[in-house]
Amino acid sequence: MNDFFQENKKVAKVIHEVADLANYLWQKGWAERNAGNISVNLSDIIEDVDLDLDNYPKFELAQPYPALGNKFFFVTGTGKRMRDLAQNPMKNACIIKLNKKADSYHIISMKKRNLYNFRPTSELPTHLLVHNQLVESGSTKRAVVHTHPNELVAMTQIPKFQNAETLNKTLWGMHPEAFVFVPRGVFMVPYILPGSHKIADATVVGFEQGHEVVIWEKHGAFAIGDTVSDAFDMIDILSKSARIWFMAKQSGFEPEGLNEEQLLELKDAFLK
Ligand code: 13P
Ligand code: ZN
Repeated sequence: MNDFFQENKKVAKVIHEVADLANYLWQKGWAERNAGNISVNLSDIIEDVDLDLDNYPKFELAQPYPALGNKFFFVTGTGKRMRDLAQNPMKNACIIKLNKKADSYHIISMKKRNLYNFRPTSELPTHLLVHNQLVESGSTKRAVVHTHPNELVAMTQIPKFQNAETLNKTLWGMHPEAFVFVPRGVFMVPYILPGSHKIADATVVGFEQGHEVVIWEKHGAFAIGDTVSDAFDMIDILSKSARIWFMAKQSGFEPEGLNEEQLLELKDAFLK
């Protein structure tokens, strides 16, 4: 089955994009050890594959994801390094297919001998819940990216930025593109245990409300996009704003930020 997916040009393209992104995340310094995880809904591009799921190892899910029955996902593995994923995506990530009831999944891309030390990311509950919401809402977004962007995480260590309103206003004010490309701003999730269903439930609320980026306090960012590059861009733009804020502070100045009038001018020019 591994060969089939690599020979399917559309799937191969997605896998290539994920590998490139894994490299960027590593280069950015956002992917220490196994930090971060990525998933892409492949169902639009491989829906006609006829598989006997009994031939592939099955794993139960703690809850069903009603919109994801029979869907395929490319998902990074738990404990895997982004820098290794960039070199060898099929060993450090896998393709899963959910069963019809969407309460279990099968790993369909990996040779049995490689499975003994491979499981999908520990953040699978959040990835699946977010994909479930995207499919249910008819979104065109197929990619979900979680990473640990240094400056954004650092901002969430500062109590006044643990509030989305203050954080968004500051990020928008640091650079016009932050406002133009992320006009809904981020949704903030207070610190919750990583890998838990609780953090998944809190995160999906942000995407239900129309945000494209959710910030996990003192941990990282989760973003959605049509492609993994689109999701990455959202985090990258906001990280640049956060970096500018710290640079101004470090040089001894309180960053001025764009004022209300300037933000309104951007809104009129670009967001109509
Ligand atoms: P995984 O290695 O399980 O994907 O976890 C990395 C991470 O960033 C957890 O939040
Ligand atoms: Zn993380």
